[in-house]
Amino acid sequence: MSLLFTPLTMRSVTLPNRIAVSPMCQYSAGADGVPTDWHLVHLGSRAVGGAGLVIAEATAIEPRGRISAGDTGIWNDEQVAAWRPITRFIKENGSVPGVQLAHAGRKAFGDWTPVAPTTEPFPGMNTPEKLDDAGVREIISFFVSAARRAVAAGFEVVEIHAAHGYLLHEFYSPLTNEGTLDERIVVPVAVTAAVREAVDVPVFVRISGTDWTEDGWTADDSVVLAQRLAEAGADLVDVSSGGNTANADIPVGPGYQVPLAEAVRRKADVLTGAVGLITEAQQAEQLLVDGSADLVLLGRELLRDPYWPLRAAQQLGAEVKAPKQYARAF
Ligand code: FNR
Repeated sequence: MSLLFTPLTMRSVTLPNRIAVSPMCQYSAGADGVPTDWHLVHLGSRAVGGAGLVIAEATAIEPRGRISAGDTGIWNDEQVAAWRPITRFIKENGSVPGVQLAHAGRKAFGDWTPVAPTTEPFPGMNTPEKLDDAGVREIISFFVSAARRAVAAGFEVVEIHAAHGYLLHEFYSPLTNEGTLDERIVVPVAVTAAVREAVDVPVFVRISGTDWTEDGWTADDSVVLAQRLAEAGADLVDVSSGGNTANADIPVGPGYQVPLAEAVRRKADVLTGAVGLITEAQQAEQLLVDGSADLVLLGRELLRDPYWPLRAAQQLGAEVKAPKQYARAF
């Protein structure tokens, strides 16, 4: 009995297995953040390949929140309409469509002034304008509208992007904000609570489990944040790392971020997702068996092989749920 191929139910949504496509920017949106045929084929292929959850890339909640002008967005009705055939196709092929709601903060790169909790620029990037209280309230309202639009577009999971040095990470990291830990986590927790209030679908939050620097955010801090996010209504904390400094010393290797997910899972009362150089079926299965995480997210390996989940099912002796059109191959 494979745990990787055991369904996972959160609220009214059941993932058919515990393999998720990690959100990955494609820099392929049309004008004004509208998803294109590329997104249909790219995300659709990974649903056909058997991933239980397909999370669409960092999708901006407002124009200033784009990492680049090629990012997808979810701040207007035209974007909602363009996402609909994509979410429908993913569902028709037995998978669950999710979307990552994002604001790039000071790491936005375009011909606009970025916003952040600091006026200190990320190395090589534009100088941000510091958000005041009204600006923060507006950001929270953008997250809420984006979450509602995501549901209207057919998404059944929303993930709040609070990692990789983007806006919400900039709030909780001591590298980019002042105040105590309790003060710095206020905004990410408030966004989570507001999104939870606005939609019924499972809400994930992606965090950076460490800044990988002496004076930065730590794994212990992440346990505190994850507990607060869970209390605010997050269903799952997806634990990534880094991104808020150009000089981090990251010990990259197979499953290098799994211990961060495991610390959160063991010490905070919330489901976790593990991500980062998870490439083998047995490796993914084992980290679930070990209790390090509840969901496994794969990025680059699923770019190399969209059929990874079907192969993994074969290798782990689970039922292979190939699309009927491909049945003769399995
Ligand atoms: C990413 N990553 C990423 N992460 C995220 O939270 N939102 C995003 O939009 C993106 N965009 C993105 C684009 C591309 C092309 C890559 C390769 C990566 C990070 C990604 O989701 C994942 O966390 C890392 O790639 C680590 O997992 P893998 O690739 O080792 O399985």
